[in-house]
Amino acid sequence: MTTVTQNQVVVEIEDKQDNLLRLPYFVSVEQLNADDVLHLLQRAQYFKNGGEVPALSRPIFCTNMFFENSTRTHTSFEVAERRLGLTVIPFDPSHSSVNKGENLYDTELTMASLGIELSVIRHPENAYYNEIIHPKEGQHLQMGLVNAGDGSGQHPSQSMLDMMTIYNEFGHFDGLKIMIVGDLTNSRVARSNMEILNTLGAEVYFSGPEYWYDAEEFSKYGTYVKNIDDEIPELDVLMLLRVQHERHNGAEAKTEQLFDAKDYNAAYGLNQRRYDMLKDDAIIMHPGPINRGVEWDGDLVEAPKSRYAVQMHNGVFVRMAMIEAVLRGRKLGGLE
Ligand code: CP
Repeated sequence: MTTVTQNQVVVEIEDKQDNLLRLPYFVSVEQLNADDVLHLLQRAQYFKNGGEVPALSRPIFCTNMFFENSTRTHTSFEVAERRLGLTVIPFDPSHSSVNKGENLYDTELTMASLGIELSVIRHPENAYYNEIIHPKEGQHLQMGLVNAGDGSGQHPSQSMLDMMTIYNEFGHFDGLKIMIVGDLTNSRVARSNMEILNTLGAEVYFSGPEYWYDAEEFSKYGTYVKNIDDEIPELDVLMLLRVQHERHNGAEAKTEQLFDAKDYNAAYGLNQRRYDMLKDDAIIMHPGPINRGVEWDGDLVEAPKSRYAVQMHNGVFVRMAMIEAVLRGRKLGGLE
């Protein structure tokens, strides 16, 4: 048992071998129950505390395939992989045969044939991973997969680092009031987090422009609040989302016309007045990257209630735990 004092709470970490998560792939928070999440967070905390990394019995090659832009997810997966002793093989989609029309399955079949056993993939298509984890009859691809974000579907590693940040702060999830604000319908962060926060017993609220709120989908997971100022003083966690202009095309193009950055900031942005309305022990989170001055006034990004940098730091350790879970799930490198 390790005891870590972080902010106001003491986090008790049990490092039991039988608590380790084992998964053949890690693509969605829907794969996890509450115990799985707590065990994963315990393992991430163990790594954060400098716990020994399990030794691999042979080299394991992995690759990070990012078909959408990324700074923190891509880089922190690579840091996590190197800390775990994996051999990282570079992959640049813009110079790959994807540009000659090769599809994702065939790209992964190529990688597996070259000896790569784990892929981390970010892709613009929702649930792209199904063709890899459920090969069709006659297909024989074997590949460990960690989803680094699929379209507006899931972002499990962001979700796990968010859960770690909340758990480190409060030591539990039960009954915490958490509001997710912003471009909800286009957000894989909102989807992953509302689902897992429900599993963990938190009370979820939503706010943001109504054109980015789909009641049919979201009301199953939380309560929509029209005026965020009504709820801010009650919140434990204010979770801001990025306005994702790059996703406002097709059916979403009309929302780009309705959107005005100044109006958005006035109605939903975190400014000094709202900062002061939050409880002293409430925290502010944002998955990044931030549109400064839109979701969050720039001079408050590193204010005492902000956990923005802590979230990114925690990302390395939850990603180590996620990758380890897949290595163990597939019995790679002598881990099981
Ligand atoms: N939060 C997040 O996914 O950031 P990146 O797009 O920079 O990876």
